[in-house]
Amino acid sequence: MKTLWRRARIATLAGEAGWGWIERGALMADGEAIAWVGAEADLPRGLVLDAEHDLDGALVTPGLIDCHTHLVYGGHRAREFELRLQGASYEEIARAGGGIRSTVAATRAASDEALLATARERALALLGEGVTTLEIKSGYGLSAEHEARCLRIARRLGRELPLAVRTTCLSAHAVPPEYEGRADDYIDAACAWLPSLHAEGLVDAVDAFCERIAFTPAQTRRVFDAAKTLGLPVKLHAEQLSDQGGAALAAEYGALSCDHLEFLGDAGIAAMARAGTVAVLLPGAFYFLRETKRPPVDALRAARVPIAVATDHNPGSSPVLSPLLMLNMACTLFHLTPEEALRGMTLHGALALGLPDRGTLAPGQRADLAVWGVEHPNELAYWFGRNPCRGTVIAGRECVR
Ligand code: NIG
Ligand code: FE
Repeated sequence: MKTLWRRARIATLAGEAGWGWIERGALMADGEAIAWVGAEADLPRGLVLDAEHDLDGALVTPGLIDCHTHLVYGGHRAREFELRLQGASYEEIARAGGGIRSTVAATRAASDEALLATARERALALLGEGVTTLEIKSGYGLSAEHEARCLRIARRLGRELPLAVRTTCLSAHAVPPEYEGRADDYIDAACAWLPSLHAEGLVDAVDAFCERIAFTPAQTRRVFDAAKTLGLPVKLHAEQLSDQGGAALAAEYGALSCDHLEFLGDAGIAAMARAGTVAVLLPGAFYFLRETKRPPVDALRAARVPIAVATDHNPGSSPVLSPLLMLNMACTLFHLTPEEALRGMTLHGALALGLPDRGTLAPGQRADLAVWGVEHPNELAYWFGRNPCRGTVIAGRECVR
């Protein structure tokens, strides 16, 4: 199946820097991959096409890649939001047994159907704003049975919706109540159930939360060793609320990404640069927790660490379903340029998932596109509260809003 999209303004993001701009562009997909992209005037003559679409000057970019979400969970935490507005901190609420643990209770109590329905609605919201590849973490089940259940639901979304879903096992997210005071025993258990989750094909990567209110670097290392034994890549929620040296530890394991990173120091940056680990910035969580310490963007740039941007959609620290708002906040709060922000949610998001076949528009890449009713890609970071997405193309197939 050969499909041509013509009369487009195209930002390919191919090449080290710049938008990869094509003013009067055309793009052809052959099956699931891009076969040709360039100026319409240079289109090869005599093409035999199965379908042709006139985009009438619309903007085409690579499909957005949301490389960090916790999409499958029960309930919400609006009451905690109120408590935080009255002065309670995220850490205080977590230590008092709320936070992640309250979502674990709601998730365990929810039926498969309810978890699937709410996650589907969230995934559709992301798809409607240009997302074509989505990562979903477990981490609100925290038992062999419930972690498997949440990962199966994530896989099912990938089968039933047009977008591509990558799953990450985040059993080391918090200590569940039945292991209160026995974090090491819980890590033993989580490492022991990982092989069966992997054998069932439920795990693309393994993540952990290395923090004062979660797991120590030593416990994180055990999780990473278990992943390594299975040949699974790792990622880490690192230096979100304090500098635990998590980024350097993750880099030692060749981590795909370290995420959050507000408290990242020079040693962590150097280690990530050496390992080629992506820095995933999450402005939604920074904003919603009213953090004041920004991630070290200048130093990450200087060290040439690829910077990605994601929603971190979750009920506690980032209940956002707008990837475009994250592009805006990456610029306003973290001082990325609009081009860096878009690259962060396309090419660098793909790297953070270990998916080199997407994130730019070039021959041979997966034909994952987003079509926008704006003139220039800098507008994707400029407007907020507006969704100019006209539709997406995923693996060569049109998916109209
Ligand atoms: O990425 N930092 C840890 N995990 C999530 C928040 C989880 C929650 O509060 O439910 C995050 O921000
Ligand atoms: Fe997260």
